Amino acid sequence: MKKLAKNMMLCMQPVPQTIVSCRDKDGNNNALVVGFAANVSLDPVMVMVGIVPTRHSHHMVKESGSFVINLPRKDFQKEYSYLGSKSGRDEDKFAVFGIKWENAKYVNAPILTDCPVSIECSVVDSIMPGTHELFIGKVEAVHVDEEYLDDNGNILWDKMDLM
Ligand SMILES: Cc1cc2nc3c(=O)[nH]c(=O)nc-3n(C[C@H](O)[C@H](O)[C@H](O)COP(=O)(O)O)c2cc1C
Repeated sequence: MKKLAKNMMLCMQPVPQTIVSCRDKDGNNNALVVGFAANVSLDPVMVMVGIVPTRHSHHMVKESGSFVINLPRKDFQKEYSYLGSKSGRDEDKFAVFGIKWENAKYVNAPILTDCPVSIECSVVDSIMPGTHELFIGKVEAVHVDEEYLDDNGNILWDKMDLM
């Protein structure tokens, strides 16, 4: 028999494990852990990330109209924990933790090169239904480490040791 849970927060499980990277108008890079992330459209391909306005990354996504969703492997746990607990407001997270990055190809944001999948997004809309601003992003490109792509460009999800 089912009973009612007292705490309804995060009742949708599993929560995705992603790292969203972004850049401010002065060219400073940052990244944060985001569990509020989902696919929202197949055609055009769109995704969404939810970011609390008090996060340092929030104004960066607003300013640039861009973000990248990076999917980490299990061996990125230390970096994941760091990016999800420290704020770019207090330190340059990329410099302090030696996070490797390169410029995205189509949007104004960095890509985390040690993550096997990085999804470049342009913000097309946002809504604020509650605690998180939900940024809807049009997917401009999906970068995948070549060992995880078959000859037709399909992503071999089962081969990746994603977190
Ligand atoms: C597992 C996990 C999931 C998280 N999910 C979110 C999220 O969906 N949205 C958000 O704004 N913050 C989320 N956070 C918190 C931010 O990653 C964290 O506050 C980070 O330090 C903010 O960095 P910033 O101030 O440099 O942007 C999550 C943290 C963890 C550990």
